[in-house]
Amino acid sequence: MGTFAVTGSASGMGAATAALLERAGHSVIGVDLRDAHVVADLGTPDGRDRAVGEILELSGGRLDGVAAIAGVGPGMKDAAAVMSINYFGPVALLDGLRGALAASGAGRAVVMSSNSASTVPLVDAELAALALAGDEDGARERARAGQAAAPQEIIDFAPSITAYATSKLAVAHWVRRTAVTPAWAREGVLLNAIAPGAVLTPLLRDSTGGAAEGDPDDFPTPMPLGRFGEPEDVAFWVHQFLKPEARFATGAVLYVDGGTDAAMRPDAH
Ligand code: NAI
Repeated sequence: MGTFAVTGSASGMGAATAALLERAGHSVIGVDLRDAHVVADLGTPDGRDRAVGEILELSGGRLDGVAAIAGVGPGMKDAAAVMSINYFGPVALLDGLRGALAASGAGRAVVMSSNSASTVPLVDAELAALALAGDEDGARERARAGQAAAPQEIIDFAPSITAYATSKLAVAHWVRRTAVTPAWAREGVLLNAIAPGAVLTPLLRDSTGGAAEGDPDDFPTPMPLGRFGEPEDVAFWVHQFLKPEARFATGAVLYVDGGTDAAMRPDAH
C-alpha cells in the first residue's frame, strides 16, 4: 500500500480524500493548520519549508502521491494571503516533494483549482503572470492594490474574489506548464488539477453568505444537476488521479462541478 501526503486534511475535501485513501489501506500524512500529522501554515515560506521537511522525514523520502488541497475561499479578507495560500503554497510544496514522488516510480500529484478560474469574470491577468513568474511579493502587492481599488459591492459580495479566481487560474496554468517538463513527465510523476464547483464545506458556507444553505437553483452560478457537491464527490476524482493505473493523464484540468462550467461556457473546453 502507498504513502500519500494530503494538505487541508483537517476539513472538507482534504479530509474526505484522506479518509478515502485510508479506507483503501494507504498511509496518509495529513498537513493542515491544526489536527494533522504535519501542522504548518502553507501561506508562509517557513511553513512550506517545514511541511516539506516533515513530510520527507515521515515518508522516508518516497511518496506515491500528493494531494495539494489546502486553500481558502473568496471570503477571506486579505487578498495577499489568498495568493500565498492558494498559489504559492501548493507550488512550493509540490516543487519540494517532486523528488520523493519520482522516487516511487509512479508518483502522482493533484492540485485543487476551482471552476471560479473560468466562471468568474474578474480574473487579473497581470496578477496571474506575477504568480507564474514566482514573484510572491509582487503578487501580494498587486492583490492588495486590486482589492483596494475594487468597487464596494464586489468587496461586500466577496472581499478577495479577484485574488481567489486568479490564484486558481494561475495554479491550473502552473499545473499545465509544469506537468509536461522532463523533470515531471520523464520521471513518471503525473500532475493534474481538479476544478471543483460549489461543494458543501465550511469554506463554501463561509464564502457565500447563506446561498449554499438554500435551493441550488437560486445559487449565483448554475447548478445543472440540481444539487451542490459533497466533499466525497471530489475526493473520488482525486483518488482516481492518484492511482498508479492513472498513467496517461497529465496536465489535465478536470471540472468536478455538477456541470456549472459547461452550462456557463458550453463551447469552451
Ligand atoms: P475547507 O475550509 O473545508 O478545508 C480547507 C482546509 O485547508 C482547512 O482544513 C484549512 O485549515 C486548510 N488550510 C487553509 N489555509 C491553510 C494554510 N495556510 N496552511 C495549511 N492549511 C490551510 O475547504 P474546502 O472547500 O474543502 O477547500 C479545499 C480546496 O478546494 C481549497 O483549495 C478551496 O479553495 C478549493 N475549492 C473549494 C470549493 C468549494 O465549493 N468548497 C470550490 C472550488 C475550489
